[in-house]
Amino acid sequence: MRGDRFRTVIVTVVGARPNFMKAAPIHLAFRAAGIEHEICHTGQHYDPGMSEVFFDDLRMPRPIVDLGVGSGTHAEQTAAVMVGVERFFMERRPQAVLVVGDVNSTMAAAIVAAKMGIYSAHVEAGLRSGDWSMPEEINRVVTDSIVDLLLTPSPDADENLLAEGCSPDTIVRVGNVMIDTLLQHLPTARALAVPRRMGLASRQYAVLTLHRPSNVDDPPIFARILGAIADIARRLPVVFPVHPRTRQQAAVAGLGPQLEETPGLLPTDPLGYLEFLSLTSDARLVLTDSGGLQEETTVLGIPCLTLRENTERPITLTQGTNVLVGTDPSTIMREADRALARAPGTAHAVPELWDGRTAERIAAAVLGRLR
Ligand code: UD1
Repeated sequence: MRGDRFRTVIVTVVGARPNFMKAAPIHLAFRAAGIEHEICHTGQHYDPGMSEVFFDDLRMPRPIVDLGVGSGTHAEQTAAVMVGVERFFMERRPQAVLVVGDVNSTMAAAIVAAKMGIYSAHVEAGLRSGDWSMPEEINRVVTDSIVDLLLTPSPDADENLLAEGCSPDTIVRVGNVMIDTLLQHLPTARALAVPRRMGLASRQYAVLTLHRPSNVDDPPIFARILGAIADIARRLPVVFPVHPRTRQQAAVAGLGPQLEETPGLLPTDPLGYLEFLSLTSDARLVLTDSGGLQEETTVLGIPCLTLRENTERPITLTQGTNVLVGTDPSTIMREADRALARAPGTAHAVPELWDGRTAERIAAAVLGRLR
């Protein structure tokens, strides 16, 4: 029997909603390569609708550990993740740690792995918005400056890393792992027919998501966005799965009535992965401040208006269906008019390597470096 010290254990750390769909295909790819792969959940997101439902939907094994970190200030949350993952890494002694995305858990786990001398890789490396007011931008830059292997989704990411002085042999372009998950689950999601169950006709509704602090923590900006959405909702129903942060901020700002009573605006609880994909894949238009949704709509060919001034995913603007509209109501309305004037299902390009095989390339790149 092989001794414990010869076994290869690889750990992927996840914490928040957008991490789960990235970890699922990575887990399968390592398992397919015969490698022991474990998922460590920091517990940054903990409501069943923000976490557990994704494990069920994606048929992921339960995380080997849930550190139960929960919410807090940035320092509190980052510190709690660091303490928790350090203890976990000391027990499990993984040969490599993968971190995904750009949330606080990503950066915290990368710092710990680097200080413990554990080989580390960042999936979704190199994305930059250039906007230092976004906590995610800080997470991205710190993470990329300390991991051993930078696994990028697109050429712009490679260029950003090279411009920051990263060595070319630490960069491997693997594609977009979230798209592996999307392509795998699209038929199941469509079969759920969520739009029909909600009484919505195919391609005759919009989907809205909103949760960035810059959009929802500032009441005048939040109110302005909801005003523009109310105009769009007069033309077609707008389904709005509401993030917990957004619901809280609406209550604080006294915007509850605007959220609940605007004609045509349909707020719902956060949806699981499959239900949400079922909804977006048949929408006429998506309005969002999410990063991942800019990429998913690009692959689905659904027009996407991004309610931000910048994006760390510029390839979705040049090759995809995404348009940056900021938060000015007249720009939002103008671009919504343009998008709605176009015939649904217009041909679109999909970036190279967003082909459903990114997780295989990730596993090959990591295992190649460990051997
Ligand atoms: C985090 C990520 C963000 C990502 C988003 C996806 C950081 C800095 N931000 O933002 O990049 O786009 O996740 O959702 O890591 N809450 C709940 N239940 C939960 C989780 C959160 O009620 O399961 C509430 C808490 O009040 C919490 C607030 O939402 O304070 C914000 O949660 P937090 O994890 O701090 O950041 P997100 O806004 O979710």
